[in-house]
Amino acid sequence: MNFDEELKRRVEKTEEVIRRFLPAEEGFSGHIKEAMNYSMNAGGKRLRPILMMESYRMFGGSHAVVEPFMAAIEMIHTHSLVHDDLPAIDGDEYRRGKRTTHAVYGEAMGVLCGDGLLNYAYETALKGFEYPDNREHIMLALSVLARKTGVDGMLGGQSVDVENEKDGRIKIEKDMLDYIYLHKTAALLEAPLMIGAILAGTDRGAITCMEQIGRKMGLAFQIRDDILDVTSTTEVLGKPVFSDEKNQKTTYVTLLGVEGAREEVHRLTENALRLLDALEGEKAFLTELISHLAYRDK
Ligand code: IPE
Ligand code: IPE
Ligand code: MG
Ligand code: MG
Ligand code: MG
Repeated sequence: MNFDEELKRRVEKTEEVIRRFLPAEEGFSGHIKEAMNYSMNAGGKRLRPILMMESYRMFGGSHAVVEPFMAAIEMIHTHSLVHDDLPAIDGDEYRRGKRTTHAVYGEAMGVLCGDGLLNYAYETALKGFEYPDNREHIMLALSVLARKTGVDGMLGGQSVDVENEKDGRIKIEKDMLDYIYLHKTAALLEAPLMIGAILAGTDRGAITCMEQIGRKMGLAFQIRDDILDVTSTTEVLGKPVFSDEKNQKTTYVTLLGVEGAREEVHRLTENALRLLDALEGEKAFLTELISHLAYRDK
């Protein structure tokens, strides 16, 4: 397999799907829609919708019902980034190689645009009901999407992460750091792997296994992100380096050092691959993708 070509093909397909579900920039609220489209069209790896599509196909899915969910998970992810970059959170002005949404549209519109994307994600995912598919699968997929995003998912992780600053109120121990990573990041990788499996109509055991794969992968993904924060460049990453240091964050890198953090990424990735290996289905690309992410440079 030529991995780079296969990845490029999937990114292009995903961007075509996303474009179809973006709001038209019209009416008095045209400006917020423009800000939403600015952040959605800025690029990025499109990892979460690609994971969803791979999981869906792996379990035999072949219908367009997965497409509104692919767009929805990227909207939720982009909402999390728009808010993460706000002055009140990480205070970053560069993302996906462009100025951040609040830097271009102002802070108030940055807040509203993030809210707009989060809500539009559900408006979009609900379009799943327009397809002649099993309504129970769609209901279950929606409930996973909501739970993994909310206060017991990504937003819960982000809420503890903002307290993870030296001048914050709490001292971060390893178990709290794991809570942060498993929620702010892993939850949004578990969701697409689970939703793909759910929409394809697979059994509960396989759905739980996909959740576990997302958990290991997600933890590894955030640790790799922390490593890149101190070893990469703004040009390559498309976002500022040393953002964690600026915000005095405790990270896996500050706890274990870069080498220790690398070993942890490797160990978690091997765990994820072992879990995937035990499942049936066409998973060659997903296997390569999980390995690739552990050593990615952006
Ligand atoms: C960034 O996610 C936020 C983290 C969870 C580390 P990505 O690295 O997937 O960002 P994009 O979508 O490629 O911009
Ligand atoms: C944020 O983690 C994860 C989100 C839920 C947005 P980071 O703050 O490390 O993400 P980046 O480095 O800004 O992408
Ligand atoms: Mg952050
Ligand atoms: Mg950040
Ligand atoms: Mg980071």
